[in-house]
Amino acid sequence: MTDPLFSLNGRTILLTGAGGAIGSVVATALAERGARLALQDISADKLGPVRQAVEAAGGTAITLPADLADPDACGAVVREAHALLGGLDVLINGAGINRRKPISEVTADDFDAIAAVNMRSVYFTSQAAHPLMAAGGGGSIVNLSSLSARFSFATISVYAATKAAVTSMTRSCAREWASDRIRVNCIEPFVIKTEFTKPLWGEDHRQRWFDHVTPLGRLGDPAEVVGSIVFLASDASSWITGQSIVIDGGLTAGADWDAYRDM
Ligand SMILES: NC(=O)c1ccc[n+]([C@@H]2O[C@H](COP(=O)([O-])OP(=O)(O)OC[C@H]3O[C@@H](n4cnc5c(N)ncnc54)[C@H](O)[C@@H]3O)[C@@H](O)[C@H]2O)c1
Repeated sequence: MTDPLFSLNGRTILLTGAGGAIGSVVATALAERGARLALQDISADKLGPVRQAVEAAGGTAITLPADLADPDACGAVVREAHALLGGLDVLINGAGINRRKPISEVTADDFDAIAAVNMRSVYFTSQAAHPLMAAGGGGSIVNLSSLSARFSFATISVYAATKAAVTSMTRSCAREWASDRIRVNCIEPFVIKTEFTKPLWGEDHRQRWFDHVTPLGRLGDPAEVVGSIVFLASDASSWITGQSIVIDGGLTAGADWDAYRDM
């Protein structure tokens, strides 16, 4: 049985990027806690199996395929989710892309494409959700930012900038909408082991590096972001807004100065 503090029973939730590695795991976890879901992704093909998994977990879901790089689609998806679910208690912004390149090779098209999905879509889904949530008495918005908002690596400059923007927008929305009882928070995961990040950890030396620099000794699993999302979506976080939860296996907690002993 779910702890009532963390219960999402009957909550209406729109999850973007629901067809992805993290989104699909989050969708099932939300359904297991009683949420009624609108699953959104650019890929209708990816949404089918996620909906089946939600139903197998005893939940219900509608699917809303659309390209959130289009700001008009962002508003339309939010309004459709609200209409079909009969309300909108929680918006989880999970859609994201990356094109990994050194700064010298990034084109204006790369910049705009990444910014449109990672940053602009979060802005306009949130903007559309605001009046609907306010009219419904409040709500919670949870954004999937990234540790790269504060801790960067080569080839992810645009992605990192867009995620820093997501963390910043989280604070701005939280500030403007607190009086409407809408809380806005984000999570900032370090590398979670998915296809999305395989180019980062796929090589042997990178895998060893990640295991070495991460105090908990390994990369994260998609299931390990669920707890923070459920916490931020539920009443368990009822007096928390404008904040980021870093999920990084301890990476930013500090370094090990004895690591050089045998080097
Ligand atoms: N995997 C990680 O290590 C990690 C770390 C920090 C943050 N994140 C963030 O978590 C989120 C999910 O990451 P993931 O690893 O599951 O990646 P993923 O690629 O598996 O999932 C992203 C989903 O977004 C969808 N999407 C892409 N463009 C879209 C568009 N224009 N409109 C609507 N949907 C679109 C994709 O189809 C995909 O299903 C992303 O925002 C990512 O930036 C991931």
